[in-house]
Amino acid sequence: MKKSIGSDKIKTAVFISGTGSNLKNLIKFSFKKNSPISIKLVISNKKNAKGLKFINSKKIEKKIVNFIKQKESEKKLINLLKKRKIEFICLAGFMKILSNNFLKKFNNKIVNIHPSLLPKYKGLNTHKRVLKNNEEFSGCTVHYVTAKLDSGKIILQKKIKIDKTDKENTLRKKILKEEHKLYPRAIMKIFN
Ligand code: GRF
Repeated sequence: MKKSIGSDKIKTAVFISGTGSNLKNLIKFSFKKNSPISIKLVISNKKNAKGLKFINSKKIEKKIVNFIKQKESEKKLINLLKKRKIEFICLAGFMKILSNNFLKKFNNKIVNIHPSLLPKYKGLNTHKRVLKNNEEFSGCTVHYVTAKLDSGKIILQKKIKIDKTDKENTLRKKILKEEHKLYPRAIMKIFN
């Protein structure tokens, strides 16, 4: 995806469900001069998502979309995204699976970060499964979102070594730290 020279930054939406450490980090990144994206909208399917507290800028709109009736929610969401001229969507700990219809509307414009070395350990509870299998390495992956869960084209990946003493929470922390570096790097790669 190319950004034309001299054009404004890419109007971006971030979708979250929880803590939002990646959102916090992406907001910080988006304010940098050389960042290709500008975050205009944050969507959460949970009204109490902790991550919502990181939106301190008046330039960033936040919206709760509960997804209880997914079809209706997505329809409203698509309208809002079009209205705000959103060109790029970053999923960051967003726990809903978007429909094919939604994905088609934003084909190749939705990316996600996943805390494993995809294609290994798609889905939930990655750290637990990785440790149970005595893996030597784990990591994180930024990839395009397609209809098949955690299976779209990989943009960037970071590998880390697992220590013998690592537990689920220490591994999660280590990988999150890497996620915060990887997501901006992947976005730079997409637009440069
Ligand atoms: C991250 O580990 C991300 O890879 C996964 O969900 C977690 C979200 O963390 N998809 P946070 O809400 O960004 O802190």
